[in-house]
Amino acid sequence: MNPGKFITLEGTEGVGKSTNLIHVRNWLEQRGIDVVVSREPGGTPLAEEIREVLLAQRNEAFDAVAELLLIFSARAQHLAGVIRPALDRGAWVLCDRFTDATYAYQGAGRGLDKAMILQLEAMVQQGLQPDLTIVLDIDVETGLQRASHRGVLDRFEREEVSFFERVRAGYRERAAAAPGRYAVVDAGNPLEDVQRQIDQVLERLLPEQHSSEVL
Ligand SMILES: Nc1ncnc2c1ncn2[C@@H]1O[C@H](COP(=O)(O)OP(=O)(O)OP(=O)(O)O)[C@@H](O)[C@H]1O
Ligand SMILES: [Mg+2]
Repeated sequence: MNPGKFITLEGTEGVGKSTNLIHVRNWLEQRGIDVVVSREPGGTPLAEEIREVLLAQRNEAFDAVAELLLIFSARAQHLAGVIRPALDRGAWVLCDRFTDATYAYQGAGRGLDKAMILQLEAMVQQGLQPDLTIVLDIDVETGLQRASHRGVLDRFEREEVSFFERVRAGYRERAAAAPGRYAVVDAGNPLEDVQRQIDQVLERLLPEQHSSEVL
């Protein structure tokens, strides 16, 4: 049996992650692939509880390192409970945000030392990395406008535009440094163009899967 593939969707607020996640899931399922859809922070009951803690608005300032550790705590739980078991049985995992978001939000956004994130990543992921990360890229204002239809803003959504500018730059920098794993898609285009571009990226993942099935 082939181990499944791990695809993550990334980008700043309102860029279209959730919308395109459904599109990618449908695309894969139409090709007979067993897909497990999840999100971060969260993805298991316990990890979703940690998500609630992370997103809740409160009076006490959230120390950036405390935030980082909780994110990786949730990630460890998610990997153990959902991601690794799914990949091991040959399913593909499709996740709305993963560790690139930590580098972008906690690293570039909050200014935490990348070396600290690297250490936690190594400890928690033990070398596991997404096979493909789709970075949906859009100017921050447009993204925030798209997301503004939501009701109550969570703790991250309340950040200033300059924070999201740093996050966006963080994503772009990571993608540029390792182009093999990333596909940066201009999410400012109409949805059908965005999805056509995503389809092309997915096509490139499939032949390998099919050829290894023959072996
Ligand atoms: N390419 C596009 N053109 C126009 N509107 C879009 C496009 N992609 C998504 N949208 C719309 O923008 C809004 C935000 O999209 P979506 O919820 O998928 O973003 P998200 O990245 O998941 O946001 P969040 O970070 O808040 O979870 C939705 O109303 C969606 O229909
Ligand atoms: Mg979303």
